[in-house]
Amino acid sequence: MTIAPTTHGSAAAAATAPLFTPYALPGNLQLKHRMVYAPLTRCRAFDQIPQPNAAQYYAQRSTPGTLLISEATCISDRAHGYPCTPGLYTEEQVEAWKPIVSAVHEKEAVFFAQLWHVGRASHQHYQPNEEQPISASSKAVGSGEQVFSPKSMQMEDYPAPRQLDASELPAIVEQYRVAARNALDAGFDGVEVHGANGYLIDQFLKDGINDRTDDYGGPIENRCRFALEVMKAVCEEVGSEKVGLRLSPFGGFLDAHDSHPYALNIYLLEELNKMNLAYVHLIEPRVAGSGDRSEGNDSIASFRSVYNGTLISAGGFNAENGAKAIASGHCDLVCYGRLFLANPDLPRRFQLGAPLNKYDRNTFYSQGTEGYTDYPFLEETAEGKQFLATLDA
Ligand SMILES: Cc1cc2nc3c(=O)[nH]c(=O)nc-3n(C[C@H](O)[C@H](O)[C@H](O)COP(=O)(O)O)c2cc1C
Repeated sequence: MTIAPTTHGSAAAAATAPLFTPYALPGNLQLKHRMVYAPLTRCRAFDQIPQPNAAQYYAQRSTPGTLLISEATCISDRAHGYPCTPGLYTEEQVEAWKPIVSAVHEKEAVFFAQLWHVGRASHQHYQPNEEQPISASSKAVGSGEQVFSPKSMQMEDYPAPRQLDASELPAIVEQYRVAARNALDAGFDGVEVHGANGYLIDQFLKDGINDRTDDYGGPIENRCRFALEVMKAVCEEVGSEKVGLRLSPFGGFLDAHDSHPYALNIYLLEELNKMNLAYVHLIEPRVAGSGDRSEGNDSIASFRSVYNGTLISAGGFNAENGAKAIASGHCDLVCYGRLFLANPDLPRRFQLGAPLNKYDRNTFYSQGTEGYTDYPFLEETAEGKQFLATLDA
């Protein structure tokens, strides 16, 4: 099943041309085009260790000068909240990542590891000694979303987390720092700190969750403190030009809302301006987590004028609006999730205006190779062959 293109051949090439201009990230990382592979959790790790077929999966999506961001990868044994997600906190995990990163580098692509702590978006059954998950607050996710328990093998309500004491935060900052070092040791070109989608850092940022009364709660400067401490530590460890940060100013996934998203994110971006990061990665308001949401009047456009460095935008992009986003200066790089997941050769398909494979939500988080390494390249489908023949004619 494919999605038919609206334009193809030279018309498509002209329409998408802005996506195919080169771009240099700080640190002299040369990208050949503006399309980024999104961080996508695929739940195919085993015992928190990425498996060998991840090398094939990522390499399929790698071409020279493509930036890929890894699936969210946990910084400690307390950072997990989903089944079969990998980590970067043991030697075995670092060793397992090495051939995966090498496979991407063999294709001359650039690979950043996304560093993740889910905070309260977890369950005792993922935690060491079945302890309570931890968070900025003791409030449970209250939006009706549920967590998969690896013990009952069912969806359950999120349990109430334990509010972290401020004295515990330096140790978590240190885990981010060590995970960043581990990522570089595994061969990654850099790291993206996951500050989006309602996970631990976002739980500190947003006043819909953070109800603390100490130096890490209350005014915006306090709620940004943890995120900035993590960024500072990671930058000191691996060099700021190798560090990105992902934020979702508007999403609302996992009940992460803020009463003043513009003020919060403008303050944060002004602080990040001082750091000379690889990039800041913002999620558009039209998506929440891994799904679409109805668009209101919010826009990340106002953040463009605030942030001086490289800006990646993610969420709901196709060939047309992606090219427009680059041409208009809305962002420097466009991140593609679901379309790239289902089309390992997405940049080529956009350039040609070729039909697209449809993604299958049922295999996003399933086990095995189905929906993982078996999405066909253009010439491997009947429609693709037919399409290529029309170009030759
Ligand atoms: C299967 C799946 C897994 C995802 N996993 C992650 C993740 O690990 N880290 C993250 O920051 N976002 C994750 N997301 C969000 C995507 O990175 C992206 O923001 C979202 O899919 C919207 O982009 P799209 O419209 O191009 O798909 C996930 C989305 C999907 C569909």
